[in-house]
Amino acid sequence: MKIIDGKKIAQDLRNDIAKKVGKLDRAPGLAVILVGDDPASAVYVRNKDNACKEVGFYSEKINKPADITQQQLLDEIERLNNDDKIDGILVQLPLPAHLDANLVIETISPEKDVDGFHSENIGKLMQNKAYLRPCTPKGVMTMLATTGIDLVGKNCVVVGASNIVGRPMAMELLNARATVTICNSRTTDLSGKLRQADVVVAAVGIAQMIQGDWIKPGAVVIDVGINRLDSGKLVGDVDFDAASVNAAWITPVPGGVGPMTIATLLENTLTAFENRK
Ligand code: GUN
Repeated sequence: MKIIDGKKIAQDLRNDIAKKVGKLDRAPGLAVILVGDDPASAVYVRNKDNACKEVGFYSEKINKPADITQQQLLDEIERLNNDDKIDGILVQLPLPAHLDANLVIETISPEKDVDGFHSENIGKLMQNKAYLRPCTPKGVMTMLATTGIDLVGKNCVVVGASNIVGRPMAMELLNARATVTICNSRTTDLSGKLRQADVVVAAVGIAQMIQGDWIKPGAVVIDVGINRLDSGKLVGDVDFDAASVNAAWITPVPGGVGPMTIATLLENTLTAFENRK
C-alpha cells in the first residue's frame, strides 16, 4: 500500500504557482468572503488567505456579519466583479439560512468563479469544455495523476452526490473516460458496488462508513471526508487502517485531499487571471 501524500503534492503545486507569479507584471488577486463566524469556516478562510500570501497573490479577506442582507451581499459581489485587481471571488459555504446561496453563486461573474460552482462553469464541465473546475474534484484528479494509473475504462465509484464534490467528481472521472457509478448514503448494496471499484472516491460525510473489506485488492482509495470523532480525532469517510490492507493507493485524513483543495484554488485563480488578460 502506498500513501498519496496530498500535503507534498499540494506543496509542489504551490511552488510551481509561486514561480509563475514571480514572472507576472501584476499579482493575481483573490477575494474570499466569510459571512458570520462559524469557526470551521473561519479556519478554512484563514488557510486560503495564507496560501495566497505564500505564492505572492494579492488577497482580500472580507468578513461580513451573520445578519448581512441578501442585497448587501450581492452588492459586495458586484463590487468585486468590477474590481480589476480581483481575478477570483470565493464565498465560503455554507451561508446563514436567510441567504440564498444559489443566487449568491450565480451573481459571481463566471470569469471570476474560482470555485467553479456557477451554472455556466458546471455546464461547461458537463460538456468537457471547462476552464474553471470545482477545486476538490480537480485536486483529486491531480492526485490520481501522480499515481500514474490510467483511468480509461476503469470502474470508478463516487460515494456522495453533493454539488461541491460528488457530482463534479463524477463528471471529472467521466471526462477522463472512466466508467462512473455515483452512489449516496442510501444506495442499496453499496458494499457490492464498491467491491467492483478500481477507484473509490468517498465524499459522503459519514465517519469511517466505508469498511476495509469493501475495497477491492489493488484499488485506489480517495477519501474526501473530514469528520471529527467524539474523542476529537479527525477521520475520513473510510476506515483507513482496514482499507489500507487491500488498497494499492490511499489518501490519509488529514493531509490528503484537504491541502489539494486549497492549492487547486490557487491554480484556478491563476487560470482566471490568465483568461482575463
Ligand atoms: N465549503 C466547503 N467546501 C467549500 C469550497 O470548496 N468552496 C466554498 N466556497 N465553500 C466551501
